[in-house]
Amino acid sequence: MSENRRLFVCTNQKSGVGEDVAKALKKELKHQGLKKQVIDGHKVRTQVQTCDCLDLCKGCKKGPGAALIVYPEGTVYGNVRPADAAELVAEHLGRGKVLKRLRWDE
Ligand code: FES
Repeated sequence: MSENRRLFVCTNQKSGVGEDVAKALKKELKHQGLKKQVIDGHKVRTQVQTCDCLDLCKGCKKGPGAALIVYPEGTVYGNVRPADAAELVAEHLGRGKVLKRLRWDE
């Protein structure tokens, strides 16, 4: 059985930071070899997708970074900057742990 996991990154900021975050996440997924994984016997493929407003604007439009949501599990991160991509990918996607410093609690 295979599953798809997606990181939806808001690109609704005027600064364009969301586009840069999405690019950095894609680069790190490839660099860290985590685009395709086997987790608990299931093949898991992870993709990064840009999207419009996620209605999490307090963690996005007015902040220095972008909001993103990990689908389908639903973890939300806020104020994510391109420089956070390596740590977020390694911690959340590599080790399966929520990166607490960027977690956005609505
Ligand atoms: S502007 Fe990014 S979540 Fe609303």
